Amino acid sequence: MKTLTFLSTTLIITILQSTVLTAPTLPSSSLSSTKQNHKRQWHHPGSIRPITAHSTDSTDDDPYHDYIAILSDDETRPWGEIFDEMGFSTKGIKKMTHSLGVNLSGKPSYNMTSYDMNSIKTFGKNLRAFTINMRESDAEGMDGNPSLASLEKMKMREWAFVPGSVKVLPSSPTVRRRRGVAGLRLTKRQDDMTWIQQGNAPWNLQRLSSEHKIDAKGRQPTDLTYNYRFDEAAGKGVDVYVVDSGINVDHLELQGRARMMFSYFGKVNDDVGHGTHCAGTIAALHYGVAKNVNIWGIKVGDSTSGINGEAIVAGIDAAISRHNQRKNQTDFMGSVISMSIGTAPPQQSDFMILKKAVEAGMHVSVAAMNSATDACNFSPGAFSQQIPIINVGAADIDDTRAPFSNFGKCVDIYAPGVSIVSTFNNNATGIASLDGTSMACPAVTGIIADELVKNPKLRLDPAAMKKHILGKALKGVIKADNVISSSELMAYNGFPGDPA
Ligand SMILES: *[C@@H]1O[C@H](CO)[C@@H](O)[C@H](O)[C@H]1NC(C)=O
Ligand SMILES: *[C@@H]1O[C@H](CO)[C@@H](O)[C@H](O)[C@H]1NC(C)=O
Ligand SMILES: *[C@@H]1O[C@H](CO)[C@@H](O)[C@H](O)[C@H]1NC(C)=O
Ligand SMILES: *[C@@H]1O[C@H](CO)[C@@H](O)[C@H](O)[C@H]1NC(C)=O
Repeated sequence: MKTLTFLSTTLIITILQSTVLTAPTLPSSSLSSTKQNHKRQWHHPGSIRPITAHSTDSTDDDPYHDYIAILSDDETRPWGEIFDEMGFSTKGIKKMTHSLGVNLSGKPSYNMTSYDMNSIKTFGKNLRAFTINMRESDAEGMDGNPSLASLEKMKMREWAFVPGSVKVLPSSPTVRRRRGVAGLRLTKRQDDMTWIQQGNAPWNLQRLSSEHKIDAKGRQPTDLTYNYRFDEAAGKGVDVYVVDSGINVDHLELQGRARMMFSYFGKVNDDVGHGTHCAGTIAALHYGVAKNVNIWGIKVGDSTSGINGEAIVAGIDAAISRHNQRKNQTDFMGSVISMSIGTAPPQQSDFMILKKAVEAGMHVSVAAMNSATDACNFSPGAFSQQIPIINVGAADIDDTRAPFSNFGKCVDIYAPGVSIVSTFNNNATGIASLDGTSMACPAVTGIIADELVKNPKLRLDPAAMKKHILGKALKGVIKADNVISSSELMAYNGFPGDPA
């Protein structure tokens, strides 16, 4: 069985190496094709089956798989024409209507057909894509068609937290929740800089506002007795899109600033807890880096179905549309995507949708993942070398690279990611401690949000913002195997000295 060679990791990486903000090129067979002759290249897709309804049958020498196909930018014809050419009945096409901008309880707008209604799904405005379950030989027939920018097998994704690390903690009884950032106010000035200092912070926030390693003075990393210095605006008005398991939007710590805007499932709850934890590290009153941002929840996975590649593309596509609407509004302050989700090997669909996001002027922070190996083997972090997304590794309270964290040249920056206390999904005041690059990614998301308010010129310029964030970071503090690395960076919000 011939394989779809352009899907192999090595080839994707080689192809992408020299292309910054340009689409990866397809194999030469498709490059030489023209619109005129591409009709002849289509194979009739034969039998197709419902997505996810059938797993691959290993005894079949021409097995079925779920595929995700992305249209090339210059393929602008209506879906009907494209599928007619492929020999599909256009009545078989299901349009995904997962955006909460639409009415979630409303009936989806598709018709039953001679094919199963789930056999093909089309989605995306900014990046048009479809998914299909078909035989490998049918996929080979589609390979190289000039209408397609990529065709790859769909791959499940993972949340980048360490599963055994979850510790639900008693809710803190002392926090004053209703008073907003003003309730934390203790303003300090030094060297013409003004900041607010919070005294009951988790360690990760202190580290992000310190020049030097934390002196724990016998405290546990999960104690809430650390100090955090942050700028008064605290990311006010910035839109942060949390691509995750949903968010407990009723959590008091989120102060009504979090809303769900997309769900792949129709449900908007967070039944995993991961999304609520990440959102809290970005935005919660006591656990958040940027305590004034707007959070937009993009639910791409849940505890029973996991996260499939289609949900990632459709969810980020919805975020891009919202960002494009918001761009012209007078209160627009900039957009950040926070994605503590990934897989190996690098997925072309991740590259293509995140490229669209940065081209639209969105800033993107992603988790380097937790396999203690070269981060260049993982999606979407590997693409930080081709497009200006920021790939974040994890460090502990001693500034040691977390033993689980991926590393290497594809990690742009490290941030605290061990024993991170933040909001959880158990109830409206719940908190938990988790480990993972999942917890480090939202710290950098928060710093970007903060910088967006301070640097309006960078609002739609993710490449310049990435440079700015890496430029502010601390050098020569991250240790691995007890050796301080001169090249690895630690995220830092730039206030001089250490909070006390
Ligand atoms: C959504 O649509 C359904 C029926 O189409 C309607 O009953 C319901 O009130 C709508 N919900 C919202 C929030 O608009
Ligand atoms: C479904 O098919 C019926 C009958 O052909 C048609 O009237 C209706 O408009 C179709 N609905 C959609 C959403 O395409
Ligand atoms: C939320 O759950 C935590 C942990 O079980 C508990 O300490 C706290 O009392 C609960 N709060 C409410 C309001 O139920
Ligand atoms: C947004 O504003 C710019 C210029 O301010 C304009 O060129 C563009 O058409 C506007 N876009 C939308 C969607 O209104």
